[in-house]
Formats: sequence, structure tokens, C-alpha cells
Amino acid sequence: MSDKIDVLLYGLGAIGSFYAFILSRSDRVRLTVVARSNYDAVKANGITINSENHGNHTFRPHQVVRSPAEAGPVDYVVCAHKAIDQEDVAVRLAPVVDQDRTTIVIIQNGVGNEEAFRNQFPKNSILTCVTWVGAIQNSPGIINHTKSEDMQIGLFPNPQVNKATEQQRLDTFVALLQKGETKFTVLEDMQPQRWEKVVWNVAWNSLTTLTMVDTQTWLHSSPDAEPYTRRLMHEVIQVARGCGVQLEDGLIDQLMDRINAMPGIGSSMQTDCKSNRPMEIDVILGFPVRKSRELGIPAPYLESLYVILRAVDGRIRAAL
Ligand SMILES: *[C@@H]1O[C@H](CO)[C@@H](O)[C@H](O)[C@H]1NC(C)=O
Ligand SMILES: *[C@@H]1O[C@H](CO)[C@@H](O)[C@H](O)[C@H]1NC(C)=O
Repeated sequence: MSDKIDVLLYGLGAIGSFYAFILSRSDRVRLTVVARSNYDAVKANGITINSENHGNHTFRPHQVVRSPAEAGPVDYVVCAHKAIDQEDVAVRLAPVVDQDRTTIVIIQNGVGNEEAFRNQFPKNSILTCVTWVGAIQNSPGIINHTKSEDMQIGLFPNPQVNKATEQQRLDTFVALLQKGETKFTVLEDMQPQRWEKVVWNVAWNSLTTLTMVDTQTWLHSSPDAEPYTRRLMHEVIQVARGCGVQLEDGLIDQLMDRINAMPGIGSSMQTDCKSNRPMEIDVILGFPVRKSRELGIPAPYLESLYVILRAVDGRIRAAL
């Protein structure tokens, strides 16, 4: 049996390219990347990463393809694409997923991200991750990484797969992250992490996008802005609790302290909106709204932001 581990990386933006670099540090990994807008640059020159933590490197993946249909089944599919149209992406990944062999690794913002993949591939294992890597791709195939680097990873347990097998799939991937010298923590239950980051993202993504100002400008826009934001966060926490995810009472204060310790910032959703690109509305707001309705937990602030953002997203998509 080959000692090689076949990995396909889907979504070669800044975050995807960063983890491609981390995984490429292991001799055991045979890495295929799916590149779209940056295909020509990556095919010709590989991927360059300039990192304040890891130094500057250029590496060439084993294979650069335009679509999963050009590759065969792999051991790990790492999904680092923007979380829009998840169902379509799951269908597109079918050629690289073998039901007895392939583990899907999700590195995305949001909650409920696993659903589309579990529905499409009910017999496969899923590793679900939250990342705190700060990186940007200013030109195709060239990534600047700051010092910000952390990840939480854990299983999204599949009752159809033997526990020991799932653990081994997690352990093997974790060994690759270790070899790549990136910072991470393995958690027994990833859902509190996913929801905590969503409380943050619901607030700052939506509010900076709909107002087109930064976080501090928003918070100081009127005496109502901060209480509004806290109420919004509270609604998301209530929905999380309804889903069985126990977020702490002090979370809102913690998140407000964290934002106030930063200069005013925009958000990835604001950037997408300014660039007329579809936004990650469904995994950040849509899933919590659906859960609030299912569970009968009123969330009027959350719900109105969701409905209005969908109209903005619809305008952007109609013009594509
Ligand atoms: C790495 O790249 C960055 C950005 O291009 C540059 O500013 C920095 O000087 C480089 N560092 C080293 C050690 O070459
Ligand atoms: C980021 O990368 C670009 C190349 O894409 C480079 O020109 C620029 O100097 C880098 N910026 C920083 C802050 O390192």
C-alpha cells in the first residue's frame, strides 16, 4: 500500500492557499489544488506565500486542475471555498469522493456548513474547522499572511462510520497539520466554536455591509447602535442554545471588548458586497434564522437583517 496521502484542496483563495502550503510541508501528501480565477498563475508559477510566521516560500502542488472532474478519488477533500451554493459544490465534488476512503474537511465560516456534504455523502467522515488565519491574495497565486493564525478542528460525527475509523481519519489529518507547523486545537465538540464565531460574524458582517461603515463608526453612529448590536448577538445565542449549544452568558461582553480593542474594521461580507460578489449569507444568517423558526425562538433583529441582505445579494447576483 502506498504511504502517500492524496489531498484535494477546493477553493484556492487566501485561506485555501495557506492550508495548501501547510499540507505541502509533509512528504506524504500528494496535493491537488482546484484553481479557478488564479489557474494560469498557479499552473505557471506555483503558490507563493509571504508569512510573518513561516517566512516566504513558493511551492508547486503535485497537480493543478480547473475542476474536481479532472481528478480521481482522494483521501481528503479540503473545502476552503467561500460558503455559497454549498449544495452545488457538494455535487461538483462527487468525482473525488469515494464513500469508503474520503474524508471531507470543511474550513469555512458559518453554521450548518456540514449539512450539504452529509446529505450528498452520507457514508463519509467530515472534519469541521474554524480558522483564524489572516491572509490576503492581492495578486493571483501570491498570498500575504500576517501573524494571525489559529484553528479549531474536530469531527462532525457520522453514526454510520465506525468510531475508531473516524478517530484515525482525524488523527491522520491532525498529524499533517502538526507537520505543517500551524497552530491548532482539536476539540471534542466543534459546534460551540462554530456558533461563537457566528455570533461575531452575524453582527459585524451584516452591520458593516448594510451601513458600509467600519465597526467603530457603526458603534458610535447613535446611542442605539451598541444596544442594537448586543440584542442581535443575544438572539443568536438564544438560537444556539435552542440547538443544544451552550454558549456562555459573558460572550456578548467578550465580543464587545474584542471589537473595541481593535481599530474600526470592515468584514469579508462588506468586501464581497463592495466588489459585487455573492455573500455568505446562508451559513452566517440563513441557518440561524431557519433554526429560530423551527424552534419557535423569536429573533426579529436577526431575521430582518437576513431578509434585507438577501435582497442585496439578489441584486448582486442578478447583475453577474
Ligand atoms: C517576504 O515577503 C514580504 C512581502 O513581499 C516582504 O515584505 C518581506 O521582506 C519578505 N521577507 C523575507 C524574509 O524575505
Ligand atoms: C502583499 O503581496 C503583494 C504581491 O501580491 C506585494 O506586492 C505586497 O508588498 C505585499 N504586502 C505586504 C504588506 O506584505
